[in-house]
Amino acid sequence: MPKPKFYLTTPLYYVNDVPHIGHAYTTIAADALARYKRLAGFDVFLLTGTDEHGQKVLQSAREANLDPKELADRVVIVYERLWEKLSISYDDFIRTTEPRHERAVISLFNKLYANGDIYKGTYEGWYCTPCETFWSSSQLKVAKGKPRQGREARCPECGREVEEVAEESYFFKMSRYQDQLLEHIEANPDFIKPPSRRNEIVNFIKEGLRDISISRMAFTWGIPVPVDPAHVIYVWVDALTNYISAIGYSMDPEKFNKLWPADLHIIGKDIMKFHAIVWPTILMAAGLEPPQRIFGHGWWTAEGQKMSKSRGNVVDPNQVVEEFGVDAFRYFLLRDVPFGLDGDFSRDALIQRVNADLANDLGNLLNRTLHMVTRYFDGLVPGPAHEKEEDRDLQALPSEVLPEIDGYMENLEFSAALEVVWRLVRGTNKYLDSTKPWVIAKDMEKKPRLGTVLYNSLEALRIITLLIFPFMPNSAGRIWEQLGMPEDLERQSLVRAKEWGILSPGTKIGKIKPVFPKIE
Ligand code: MSP
Repeated sequence: MPKPKFYLTTPLYYVNDVPHIGHAYTTIAADALARYKRLAGFDVFLLTGTDEHGQKVLQSAREANLDPKELADRVVIVYERLWEKLSISYDDFIRTTEPRHERAVISLFNKLYANGDIYKGTYEGWYCTPCETFWSSSQLKVAKGKPRQGREARCPECGREVEEVAEESYFFKMSRYQDQLLEHIEANPDFIKPPSRRNEIVNFIKEGLRDISISRMAFTWGIPVPVDPAHVIYVWVDALTNYISAIGYSMDPEKFNKLWPADLHIIGKDIMKFHAIVWPTILMAAGLEPPQRIFGHGWWTAEGQKMSKSRGNVVDPNQVVEEFGVDAFRYFLLRDVPFGLDGDFSRDALIQRVNADLANDLGNLLNRTLHMVTRYFDGLVPGPAHEKEEDRDLQALPSEVLPEIDGYMENLEFSAALEVVWRLVRGTNKYLDSTKPWVIAKDMEKKPRLGTVLYNSLEALRIITLLIFPFMPNSAGRIWEQLGMPEDLERQSLVRAKEWGILSPGTKIGKIKPVFPKIE
């Protein structure tokens, strides 16, 4: 039987600046889920990439005295290096300046134009370049007590100044798809997650969808409108199309039909409307299915403050990794805050989390188990003898926690899933505390009992390693080696977490090296 497919995406990151922890967060979450799904037997396709057109990137390039493509080429390398450092197992990386992408955007535009869903009009309103978003006068925020005039007009999203625009533009007839979109959202309760964001979107649509401007004439850094090259396609329409251009829309029907619709778009809460309104209506107009699910996660502040260049408090993921290691960073981001809610990144919180969960709970379990195997069994996996009730309790734990973990992962509740994994970690520590193998070891006659206890502890560790692999692939790999497991961890299946007794007695365990040192 062919494996079922699972196609998931991250947003495309703007190349106007280097990545910070917010960008790392979305990508790490997507990677953890991709790895989990692979373990669970899915044929996973994880897509990420960069958003390179538009005024925002153009402005940064000008400030840096570079051609925008040159700037993009430089920043893309920074992203690729970071993804490698963060162990992101993406299957494809798409850049919006690639010919394969541009061809798909043009095909999609032509399709909508031929259907009569695109028309030429005049746009009069306001533009926020940092958000790359159009606003009407009634949507604007006006600085307190001041008249609504050019300079005082501010973006309702980010609060920054907006620029007045009046130009000829192409429009997409989004209003035409309002009812269809609402029906779709109502018929598919899982389409927009979490539910709070779904409600926001539904309320917004109910206020009435307008047609949206989808081209600009003020600059040329973008994909030209095929029927009128004096215009470039609006950067959001360009960027959203990546989700289909990367899988062969209009070029490779076999690949496209296999992967579309996407199973999941993971995004931040700020770009929800583009993904849950603009994108699905464009797809409907093109006769394509909407994605299965869109999940909007929360935002990180840094040490209690909004991250911004002007405050100088932007957290560089490279630095965090250098200081604490990649897996500690991944674990903290996914464990400390429920996905979907906002969180605060602080060094103290990270250190506390890592020391308590990784160094203490898991690190100690691993160290004491492996050291006892070395000391009492010359580093060879002992064989289990007859079992007692306390052994059976431990053996029953995995089949108890696995369905729970699966349910949480299905809902992207990473923090809750990890909490359940730690029930197994703590349960195994408790098992050692109550069976006291170091006391049993004093009586030579009880060697079979000692072997049983340590075998069970090793087996629990094997299962824990499989379960933490999606979150901490490097540490899991190191534990795997120390347990003496011969098979490739990446090729393991979750089914193996349900089976007790996989380790073969007599196997030599690996060299013991601390995996989670305590941070002082
Ligand atoms: N280029 C658009 C997305 C196009 S998708 C077709 C864009 N890029 S971005 O680089 O500005 O942001 C990318 C992602 O990073 C968004 O999902 C955003 O929510 C996320 N984050 C940016 N700052 C963040 C935090 N401080 N915290 C968490 N995530 C944040 O938007």
